[in-house]
Amino acid sequence: MDKFTYQNPTSIHFGQGQIAAITTAIPKDKKVLVIYGGGSIKQNGVYEQVANALEGFNWGEFSGVEPNPQYDTLMQAVELVKTEGYDYLLAVGGGSVVDGTKFVAAAACYQGEDPWHILLKQEPVTHVIPLGCVLTLPATGSESNGGSVVSRGKDKLFFGSPLVRPAFAVLDPQTTLSLSPRQVANGVVDAFVHTMEQYLTYPVNAKVQDRFAEGLLHTLVEEGPKALATPDDLAVRANIMWSATQALNGLIGVGVPQDWTTHMIGHELTGNYGIDHARTLSIVLPAVMKVRRKEKEAKLLQFGERIFGITSGTTDERINAAIEHTIAFFKQMGVPTSLADVELNEKDIDVILASLERHGMVALGEHQDITLPISREILNTAL
Ligand code: NZQ
Ligand code: ZN
Repeated sequence: MDKFTYQNPTSIHFGQGQIAAITTAIPKDKKVLVIYGGGSIKQNGVYEQVANALEGFNWGEFSGVEPNPQYDTLMQAVELVKTEGYDYLLAVGGGSVVDGTKFVAAAACYQGEDPWHILLKQEPVTHVIPLGCVLTLPATGSESNGGSVVSRGKDKLFFGSPLVRPAFAVLDPQTTLSLSPRQVANGVVDAFVHTMEQYLTYPVNAKVQDRFAEGLLHTLVEEGPKALATPDDLAVRANIMWSATQALNGLIGVGVPQDWTTHMIGHELTGNYGIDHARTLSIVLPAVMKVRRKEKEAKLLQFGERIFGITSGTTDERINAAIEHTIAFFKQMGVPTSLADVELNEKDIDVILASLERHGMVALGEHQDITLPISREILNTAL
């Protein structure tokens, strides 16, 4: 295991009724901008609970943050923050709203030439407006990590800073009951793939990280289908919500190699074709498992044995079975598992490769050896 320093200062308020905790989580003297998306929070009672919790605060709102949040929209929020003097941001929604709010927090304090450079040139973030969040879609882990993904045209880019990690996150599973089956499935699959990207590499004798990751994978494989079959089951939602947070709050990734190839290729699929984030991952991950079966052999065998109970057969047979079980799980969740499932073909692979090259994604994976030709092989395998 590699050396590491770990700190996750996000306070978590978990459980039913916890939106009320906002009242004490935000300092009373702050002028709060509530940032949300297309309006789901107005239909499921979340907006009302937030408004009640903010009674007595000086607060305003900004709505319309899209799924895969758009730079131009977020810059409107930045303007509002500057002109109205907001000094606290409260994101209320899914990963897109939380990510978008993180960018607003950084861009509103940015002193350089062009705030897009925070993403394009990875200019360091030195000052931010403090933020908290109420999460309504368990998936991204954005509620307690320092990452954010913002889109501008076909460019979907990432930036990260410990400064944009939310000060607090409210996780009330009740708020997830209004999600469509598609978004429920997307969330489970995203959390599953986050876990895999930090687990399916090569062994470094990190027993705690491995077994935490396997605990999350088990829970998601068990509870994901239940969330679709019995959508009113709050206990199922609670387990999924906590799994998704843990999958990408940094804990399982400390001291271990990480991959992220699936995500980087997936972002280009979303950028170019608008495919939901999680649905790009369910297309790409099985192909990564197939193409990298040698490099990932030991962990593929461990994954197959510990998650799906695959203990017999040759190495090749066991790896094939592990990949087949993963695909079967994705199919059970109703997400696509090939490019053909989303009506893409060979011609589209050139488009995706050009985007990877433009974004400098030419040395991916735990060994930084997934070059463009290997990404092409992965995409060909995903056809
Ligand atoms: O906009 P509203 O009206 O709120 O509707 C949203 C949106 O249409 C809806 N929704 C959210 N909560 C709901 C609800 N509908 C009914 N009831 C609720 N309780 O769901 C739709 C999708 O929301 P979105 O926030 O886009 O989904 P998700 O949470 O999956 O976030 C995806 C974004 O996060 C990025 C992705 O790339 C993508 O842009 N990611 C962020 C990461 C991070 N910060 O660490 C890591 C991830 O790998 C990912 O890349
Ligand atoms: Zn993801």
